[in-house]
Amino acid sequence: MTKQAKANMPSLDNYWMPFTANRQFKKSPRLLVSAEGMHYTADDGRQVLDGTAGLWCVNAGHGRRQITSAVERQLATLDFAPSFQMGHPVAFEFAERLAAIAPGGPEAKLDRVFYTGSGSESVDTALKIAIAYQRAIGQGTRTRVIGRERGYHGVGFGGISVGGLVNNRRVFPLLPGADHMRHTHDPARNAFSRGLPEHGADLADDLERMVALHGAETIAAVIVEPVAGSTGVLVPPKGYLERLRDIATRHGILLIFDEVITGFGRLGTPFATDYFGVIPDLVTTAKGLTNGAIPMGAVFAKRDVYDALMTGPEAAIELFHGYTYSGHPAAAAAGLATLDIYESEGLLTRGADLAQEWEDAIFTLKDAPNVIDIRTIGLVAGIELSSRPGAVGARAYDVFVDAFKKGLLIRVTGDVIALSPPLIIEREQIGEIVSVLGDAIKRAE
Ligand SMILES: Cc1ncc(COP(=O)(O)O)c(C=O)c1O
Repeated sequence: MTKQAKANMPSLDNYWMPFTANRQFKKSPRLLVSAEGMHYTADDGRQVLDGTAGLWCVNAGHGRRQITSAVERQLATLDFAPSFQMGHPVAFEFAERLAAIAPGGPEAKLDRVFYTGSGSESVDTALKIAIAYQRAIGQGTRTRVIGRERGYHGVGFGGISVGGLVNNRRVFPLLPGADHMRHTHDPARNAFSRGLPEHGADLADDLERMVALHGAETIAAVIVEPVAGSTGVLVPPKGYLERLRDIATRHGILLIFDEVITGFGRLGTPFATDYFGVIPDLVTTAKGLTNGAIPMGAVFAKRDVYDALMTGPEAAIELFHGYTYSGHPAAAAAGLATLDIYESEGLLTRGADLAQEWEDAIFTLKDAPNVIDIRTIGLVAGIELSSRPGAVGARAYDVFVDAFKKGLLIRVTGDVIALSPPLIIEREQIGEIVSVLGDAIKRAE
């Protein structure tokens, strides 16, 4: 840090940082002060290549002036409008534009859009819509929600209840009745798979087991990330999602895809729903929705689901749910500008052009020390390292700190390194990621 920067540095005491080892961080902080394109600038002036699109969200790269000006114009015109019993045109316009690229294309009819402020809110919203839908169609006993081990669905009480990460759950009470299918990670049979793993479609039958155990008449919905991101990039086995869809349909259970990470081009298609050709009933999104510039989430609901709730007296509120910031004007304006960029630069499908090169480049790390698995899909990669005895996560954390010092931002969970660069990445930057990361892995004994 320069002397000047140090002098201007606020105290680190007051900000209680999320998902961070606060005391460790504050002893040796890593601070980012600006960003442009594929790079951050750290507080010591170093350029840091963004290997993670911020936190899986800056899909169009940093510092997009089009978004800045749209937000600025919007704030100067209409900074805020109440979202309950009132509306404003930008929120409607954004929903119409989102409907035009909705997951699964026009036939899927996933074109009713409920706005939230984050991925966690999108998840809790989708779970509530599912339960409300079941009640509206006369299935009021269906209140149970099913998730999957190693799922991450944010941090609301709904999200942690269906989520499958023990650290996010063990301290808190959970939704009654939530249950979990097994995860699909099977390194013994699927390690270093290129493309979708061969083994494990039958794990979708766990939903049948849930039905056998609890009764279909108690289950409202099942939620999965089509590709689990935050828990270490778990790519679904061939046929798994299709099978889950069939079982859910057969038992009247709504299928929710949590596309907070996979939405908006991450896999080389607009949504994972398009990539896999499996159509869920609800899709949760956030992150790339506004390029991370303004917080916002959105749930895409099937028209049937929406229509089922549009009953009863016309003057009655159909869904007792919403947020002060649902459809916030500045967020909707950021979203519209983001969609313009995605469309004009072809970013929602650019990942498909780069996917093979990405995979080949990442797989060159196969023989690096301690690498026990590599998983890639679209512009995502998970590189799993063996854990040091008694210190799960320590090796990957060292790689993270080392890579940051050498000018590369990666993300780690446990001993998995996750990569998800902005979709504007240039080919030579793929090489740079692999080279800096490879060296850092070698140094992390
Ligand atoms: C699949 C998934 N769902 C939900 C969330 C929660 O989103 P947020 O942090 O915006 O609440 C995340 C965040 O990474 C996510 O990956």
